This record gives sequence, structure tokens and C-alpha cells, in this order.
Amino acid sequence: MVINARSKRLLAKIDPHRLPRHVAIIMDGNGRWAERRHLPRVAGHRAGIDAVRDTVEISRWLNLEALTLYAFSKENWKRPKREISFLMRLLREYLRRELERLKRNNIRFRVLGRMEELPPEVQSDLEVGLRETAVNNGMVFSVALNYGGRSEIVDAVRRLARKAQTNGGDLSQLDESALEQELYTAGLPDPDLLIRTSGEMRVSNFLLWQIAYTEIWVTPILWPDFRQEDLLEGIIEFQKRERRYGGLRA
Ligand code: IPE
Ligand code: IPE
Ligand code: MG
Repeated sequence: MVINARSKRLLAKIDPHRLPRHVAIIMDGNGRWAERRHLPRVAGHRAGIDAVRDTVEISRWLNLEALTLYAFSKENWKRPKREISFLMRLLREYLRRELERLKRNNIRFRVLGRMEELPPEVQSDLEVGLRETAVNNGMVFSVALNYGGRSEIVDAVRRLARKAQTNGGDLSQLDESALEQELYTAGLPDPDLLIRTSGEMRVSNFLLWQIAYTEIWVTPILWPDFRQEDLLEGIIEFQKRERRYGGLRA
């Protein structure tokens, strides 16, 4: 990818040995971006695709282990039908257009959420993406779709209960790691850095279990304007933080 002059200056401030392993992003502000331009909301979603492409590229370039983008929450079904179907179409278009690039960059695609409740044509495109990148081991790129943090935990508990039934229904030995293995994110490290764009200071049901000790950075930038240098700025902020995990200063 092309690293621009501003990014180069920012890169000089980043310690390559203390990069986050996993960055998660709540991509927010598409609607407001469009409204400011007197465009329909969906124009903001479309413009957001460039931000996705840039973010995936710079994350891979930095050699991050995992990038997770929140694309559609369970609560987003409350939006007008037209907006929802536009988002679904955009997702399919993105996959079709970007799959080759993901493959070329050794990126493994993953979906977090109740995939089985998505429209069948979306599911089948997602399946292609999952299948064709399954052997890649460069970076895990997860897209949270029809995702809810609470339902994720409920789904995990259900699976655990089902497994327990086969050995007498005993859950008394249940521990955190057993539950983690049933989450949609099984096998991924917890996010080190959670970014939310558009200035909103809330979590909106995203990765509730996994962000227990995640550093949070909120930027006023609206998602369609988010670029490589903004991710780098987030990482610089992250590296200023002191992570104590409940302990004392090192
Ligand atoms: C984020 O942008 C995209 C999705 C939630 C799908 P929004 O559509 O929430 O944009 P705002 O928050 O209304 O500006
Ligand atoms: C969160 O954004 C969901 C995604 C980014 C996919 P929303 O715009 O839906 O969140 P709220 O409604 O402002 O909390
Ligand atoms: Mg929003």
C-alpha cells in the first residue's frame, strides 16, 4: 500500500514492538457524514467502503494479528427496510470486489454474529469469503454482522449447556476460558484497542465480554473520513496508555 507523508510522520512516533495485537472498530457516523453533504444516508454507507479498504490495508501493513469491524448490529434491524437492504447489497459488493485483494494479502476473513439469520444470498457470499480465505494466516479480519454482545454470550451459554447435557448436565466446573471458547471470537486475542468514530461515547452492545480490559479511543472523525493516519493516531494514543489490569503501576 502507499504510505502517505503524514502517516510516515506518525509511524516515526509508533513503537513497533508495542503494537496492539487486535484492533476493533465501531464504524459510526456514516449517516451524519451524508447529512452534512445533503445526501441520503446510504451515500454515507457507500463512502464508508473506502475507509474500510484503507483500514484493512494499513492494519495488514502493520502486521496486526486481528482487525474487527462492527458493520451491522442486531439492533440495526430497527432501521428502515431500504437502508438495511442497501447495507446488505453493499456488503456483497464489497466482498465480490475485495476478495482477491484479501487473498493476495494473506488475510483470513471471519464473520462474528448470527450469520444464519442473514438473507440467504448474503450468507452464500459470506461463505465464499470464508472458504476462500480459510487457509490464510496473515491477519484475521472479522466483520461483526447481525452481531450483539449479549446474544453472543447467550449463544455461548446455550452451546455449553448442550455440551454439558451429554455428560450429565454438570456445569459446576465452568470457567472463563470454557465460555470464551464458545464465543464467536474463539481463538482471537481480546482487543487491545477499541476505536469508535463519530464521537459517540458508548459501546452499543459490541464485544461486551472481550473488552473487559480494552483501551478505548473515541475520535470525532466520521467513519467515511477515517483513513490510515487516523488508525495510526489511535495506535499512538494506545501506546500512551498504562495498562494495569487492576494491578499497580509497573
Ligand atoms: C454506522 O453509521 C453504520 C452502521 C451502523 C451500519 P450510522 O448509520 O450509524 O451513522 P450515524 O450514526 O447515523 O451518523
Ligand atoms: C453501532 O452503531 C453499530 C455499528 C457501527 C454497526 P449505531 O449507530 O447503530 O449505534 P447507536 O444506535 O448510536 O448506539
Ligand atoms: Mg450511528
